[in-house]
Amino acid sequence: MVDASYFKGKDVISMRDYGRKEIDFILNKSTEMIELIGKRCNLCQEKILATLFFEPSTRTRLSFETAMLRLGGTVIGFSDPSASSVKKGETLEDTIKTVENYADIIAIRHPEEDAAKKAADVADIPILNGGSGPGEHPTQALLDLHTIIFAKRKINGLKIGLCGDLLYGRTTHSLALALNHFNVDLYLISPEELSMKKDIRNDLKMNVTETSELLEVLPKLDVLYNTRIQKERFTNPEKYESLKNSYIITPDLIKKGKKELILMHPLPRINEITPDVDKMVNAWYFKQVKHGVYVRMALILLALGL
Ligand code: NCD
Repeated sequence: MVDASYFKGKDVISMRDYGRKEIDFILNKSTEMIELIGKRCNLCQEKILATLFFEPSTRTRLSFETAMLRLGGTVIGFSDPSASSVKKGETLEDTIKTVENYADIIAIRHPEEDAAKKAADVADIPILNGGSGPGEHPTQALLDLHTIIFAKRKINGLKIGLCGDLLYGRTTHSLALALNHFNVDLYLISPEELSMKKDIRNDLKMNVTETSELLEVLPKLDVLYNTRIQKERFTNPEKYESLKNSYIITPDLIKKGKKELILMHPLPRINEITPDVDKMVNAWYFKQVKHGVYVRMALILLALGL
């Protein structure tokens, strides 16, 4: 049996650290958070969250901050490391050992794959990984699962397609690892050059189909999770240019899928989904955003043991 005490003081670094019971516990706790929204809540009244974002972010940072504010807590941090001592050459470890004197919990995003782990190794307070380079993004995976449950009332039995940049797209890495604990058929849809990162692919235990042809598998899917080609990870700009328009979802394309297909995207979208898809009932990517607040409220409470 997993209970809340299991999560107290623990970091959230990788989906590899969670089994089905832990995932279910977090998702249930996230659902409980919904009724706290809009009410006066002082569960985190004495607590401070530090958000240390070494890479650009809109949703992840703002939803961590919203989550803490909704819980009655306070937020400090930076979203522009060039305005902090990082600019002077301070190491990540020293930044963390400093900030833990100010805050009770830290959410971090960093371009290096092992940054969140490195931070956790030196910190005495919980570290929440808000995206570690081309590695993982576990809190996004949890909010993705929470969204799927709300849209489909289940995860087991679904046919789920992850599409786009599966090599560098950290959200797809964490989501695939999370789905490993469910009975799903997974479709990995990408140009060959951007196929699923090998260490993640090797760990997948479910029924997996890999293809570059979205149209071939689209009619089977219950969930299509499209992603941005991660321009900032490419060393060769021409390669990015040649791949950036690999999959563009339009209303006509959606109509080739099941009527109940849900379309998700971690956002930001560049041109992977045309804006005229937004009004279709299949479009779930902006509703998905809200689940980020519920899940991050739950994760903050659990890590703080509240
Ligand atoms: C993603 C990220 O930063 O990994 N966005 C997010 O956190 N919601 C996806 C992306 O940048 O493409």
